Amino acid sequence: MRRPLVMGNWKMNGRRHVAQSLLSAVAAEATTFSGVDVVVCPPHCYLGLAAEQLGDCAGIVCGAQDVSAYGDGAYTGEVSADMARDMGCEFAIIGHSERRTLFGETDGVVAQKFARALAADMTPVLCVGETAEERDAERTREVVLRQIGAVFAVCGANAFDRAVVAYEPVWAIGSGRAASPDEAQAVHRDIRDAVAQQNPEAAASLRILYGGSVKAQNARELFARADIDGGLIGGASLVAGDFVGICRAACSASA
Ligand code: PGA
Repeated sequence: MRRPLVMGNWKMNGRRHVAQSLLSAVAAEATTFSGVDVVVCPPHCYLGLAAEQLGDCAGIVCGAQDVSAYGDGAYTGEVSADMARDMGCEFAIIGHSERRTLFGETDGVVAQKFARALAADMTPVLCVGETAEERDAERTREVVLRQIGAVFAVCGANAFDRAVVAYEPVWAIGSGRAASPDEAQAVHRDIRDAVAQQNPEAAASLRILYGGSVKAQNARELFARADIDGGLIGGASLVAGDFVGICRAACSASA
């Protein structure tokens, strides 16, 4: 049985006081998240604050929203995987669709970042997903498997031994229109099968999260599906009550 994982991706939102109150509201509920791993991913500049505030809070850890494809050096503005790890991050979101589309990250760059996160002793969370046009053209499987394949090509057959995949259809992110549980389950199955072709053991234990307009109202039905092991939450992670509700939905899926 895979342990459900719920991750909050705050994106570029909030200020110090917002981060503080969100963290304390979620931390106050941590003891009720039994059987579920919870990760919050604040902007890099608030990671120190988050680590400090969550310091002794069992069950909630920090993740980075991104890491550099490079190691330390003359890369102005970048944050290395080692730095994120040093700030207490145990997870790193890699290849989010906003990074791919707005900042031009190719499959190759994403794979380098994935490798950096692994080398820094973090769990990379590889985001994959198709655009609306790709789905309409029935290319979902092809796109998602290409994105996974790029990581295997750089990191080898054991790439997903210690990793998470987040299936996030681009058309569902921030749109209020989540994939249906059936639609998501079908893609999650394809992802698990593709990983199994390289490494059956890694595939069996791989947590595959769904992301894209997850709310407290639709989380339970999504997380009940066989290959949906939790969620990567954007907008709803900025409202403590909503995020807590989604974590509780994951608890009931694990019960
Ligand atoms: P959303 O974002 O929950 O606001 O749709 C998900 C994500 O981008 O990870």
